[in-house]
Formats: sequence, C-alpha cells, structure tokens
Amino acid sequence: MQKLHKIVILICLCAGIFLIIVWNINNKLYVEIFESDGVVYKSVLTRSDELFDLKLNYTLNSKLCENKSEQYFAVFIVTSYFANVETRSAMRRAYSNEDLKQMGLRRVFLLGFNDRDKFLTQASIANEAERFGDIVQGNFKEAYRNLTYKHVMGLKWISNYCSNTKYVIKMDDDTVVDMKQFLDLLKKLKLPSPNYIVGYILRGMAPIRERANKWYVTNDEYKLSKYPTFVSGWLYVTTPQVAMEISNLAYEDNYFWIDDVLVTGIFAQKLKIRHLNLNRYFAVHAELMDCCLQDLPNIRCDFLIGPNGGDNDMFYNFNKLSAECLANKCPHRSRPLNETCVVEKKDKLEHGNAIIHAYKLS
Ligand SMILES: *[C@@H]1O[C@H](CO)[C@@H](O)[C@H](O)[C@H]1NC(C)=O
Ligand SMILES: *[C@@H]1O[C@H](CO)[C@@H](O)[C@H](O)[C@H]1NC(C)=O
Ligand SMILES: *[C@@H]1O[C@H](CO)[C@@H](O)[C@H](O)[C@H]1NC(C)=O
Ligand SMILES: *[C@@H]1O[C@H](CO)[C@@H](O)[C@H](O)[C@H]1NC(C)=O
Repeated sequence: MQKLHKIVILICLCAGIFLIIVWNINNKLYVEIFESDGVVYKSVLTRSDELFDLKLNYTLNSKLCENKSEQYFAVFIVTSYFANVETRSAMRRAYSNEDLKQMGLRRVFLLGFNDRDKFLTQASIANEAERFGDIVQGNFKEAYRNLTYKHVMGLKWISNYCSNTKYVIKMDDDTVVDMKQFLDLLKKLKLPSPNYIVGYILRGMAPIRERANKWYVTNDEYKLSKYPTFVSGWLYVTTPQVAMEISNLAYEDNYFWIDDVLVTGIFAQKLKIRHLNLNRYFAVHAELMDCCLQDLPNIRCDFLIGPNGGDNDMFYNFNKLSAECLANKCPHRSRPLNETCVVEKKDKLEHGNAIIHAYKLS
C-alpha cells in the first residue's frame, strides 16, 4: 500500500515537472541576465515582439547602447511626436549625445509613423535618425490613442537593448527638465529597492465621462470610477527591472490608451511597484515655467520639471539660463512662485501628450 502511494506521488511529481517545462518552452523565448547597480536580475523576456495586439517592429532603431560593457547612470526615453523636430533639436542643443555620453547618460526619442504629415516625410525622419542615431520608431501610427504603444515600446526597448543602466527616465518631448539640478537630485535620491516609480503622483483621479471631451473614457475602456494611484507621464524615474516587468505584462494585458494610467497605475499596482513622490519639483502649469524664465538667470527657479506650453525652444533656454544662474550662485525666490507669478494664461494642448493637463493638477 505504502509503495503504491510513493509511485502515485512520483508520477504526479513527474507530470508536474513535465508541465512546467512545456509551459516554459511555450512562453519564454529567451532568458537574459543583466546587471544593474551590483544587483543581478534575471530577465525573462517573453514573446518579445508582441505589444498588446501589435506585432512590434522597429522601423528605425538606435545603437546608442550597443556597447554592452558600458554601465549608464540613466537612460532617457523621450516620447516624441513624429513631426516635433524642433523640440528634439532644442533638447539636442541643450545636451548633445556627446555631452550625455560624458555624463554617463543616453537619450533616445520614441516615435510612431505618420505617412500623412503635412510638413515631414518618413525620409527626413530616417535622415534625422542617421544623423543623430537617437531615434527609435515603432510600426504604429501616431495618434494619442496609440500613445500607450509608444510608452511601452520605450520600456521594452530598454529591456531589449539598454538595461545596463541604474535609472530609466521616461519623459515627453514637451516636458522641460533642468538636467543639471535634476541629475544632482537623482544622485542624492536613495531608492529603497529597484521596485519604484518616482515622479508626480496623482491620487484618486476619476475617468472623464463626458462624451464631448477629448479625454472621454467609455465604461468598456475603463469600468471603475477611480483610477489607481499613478504617476504623470510628463517625467518619471524608474529602474530597468521595472521597465522589464511592465513590458512583459504588456503582451498579456488589455490595452488602455491613457498610457500613464495604464503603465504607472494599473500595471504598477499589479506588480506591486511603489510610488515615490517628487511632486514639489514639478511646475504644473506652463505659466509657472514662463515666470521662472522671466527671472532667470537672476533668481533660481523653484521647479526642476514642467511643461513647455508650446514653446519648442524652452528646453534649451531653461537649461542654459539655469546653468548660468547656478554658476553665479543666484538666490532662491523670497516668496513662492505660485503666489507671485502672473503671466498671460496659455492653453496649448499639443498632440494630447499629457493627460495631466486635462486634470488641472493642483
Ligand atoms: C521590420 O522593419 C524593417 C525595417 O527596420 C523592415 O525591413 C522589415 O520588413 C519589417 N518587418 C516586418 C515583419 O514588418
Ligand atoms: C565599450 O566600453 C568599454 C568601457 O567603457 C570600453 O573600454 C570599450 O573600448 C568600448 N568598446 C567599444 C567598441 O567602443
Ligand atoms: C494605431 O496604430 C495602428 C497600427 O499602425 C493603427 O492601425 C491604428 O489605426 C492606430 N490608431 C489610431 C487611433 O490611429
Ligand atoms: C503655493 O505652494 C505652496 C506649497 O508649495 C502651498 O502651501 C501654497 O498654498 C500655494 N499657494 C497658492 C496660492 O496656490
């Protein structure tokens, strides 16, 4: 009797192992080991070319992370609209690829395609890619309901090509960041584990249910009355491990077009990724950035990150003036900017890059 028991248990065990092996063969295409910050992560890249319902193909790819023996401090993945040549140019003028290399950084721009753009052809994008080598373009059409493809493509690209970095910084091309001060802040920041997303935290946001609104979300798209806590897609910092976990989820989960809600909210919740708050460094309105610019380089700006409000050159000007200000040890403002700032109100919503606008953040 006892013998029979043992045989049954043995058979069950063998069947179990067999099933696990078969399941693994089916689901895991390859295994890659990468190191970051002294910690070795085992990355199981799953069906690496699938992005929700899209068979992802990079129509243009970047070789900026080609040298696998290099270790970066941070890699910027910048979601950029196909035709936003000027914002990309302002960012490159502020910090060229060479400048970034010297600082242990890399930056790529994430694009979709648009064969109907009035001003720009695919040939000129290919040209730009050849000249700067920093363009990653996916085989999906530019549309704000396709922004999730773009966002997750960036995280997937990190997993596939550029995981040898301490931090991953996702930002939009119409976000301005004071690079020097922000990187200094990041160097001081001690993440308690690799399982974090750091940025502008949004809590208790509700989907917009008015049909006329550009950000209208149907019940089929999202059922609950509140979004989980998420982080604004303007700019956030995370780790290659999180980038990998999220991009692995993206082939088995439902598509939702509000990309920051899905990626930094819904996925983060499923993966038990925690949020860390940098809200006080964000200017939530473009006017605050304009006020800062008026006083730079004589008075320091309270904010390190904000929207460009349609001013394509702001990234360059802001960084240049702020660096000058720091070099001259300029003073901080005596009263908070939000109480003194009065400039013409702007209301520019370009390509719907930022849901944050629609919510009137503070
Ligand atoms: C993927 O993109 C490359 C260009 O980068 C192209 O040559 C190839 O045909 C594409 N493959 C598919 C399956 O679309
Ligand atoms: C790759 O990076 C390492 C470390 O920085 C460097 O020593 C090496 O020369 C690089 N290789 C190439 C082909 O650039
Ligand atoms: C998103 O991209 C796909 C693939 O190119 C395309 O078929 C679809 O029409 C795009 N969505 C929108 C809303 O344009
Ligand atoms: C300005 O910001 C500070 C904190 O950053 C806040 O305490 C204060 O209420 C704000 N003032 C206005 C007028 O919004």
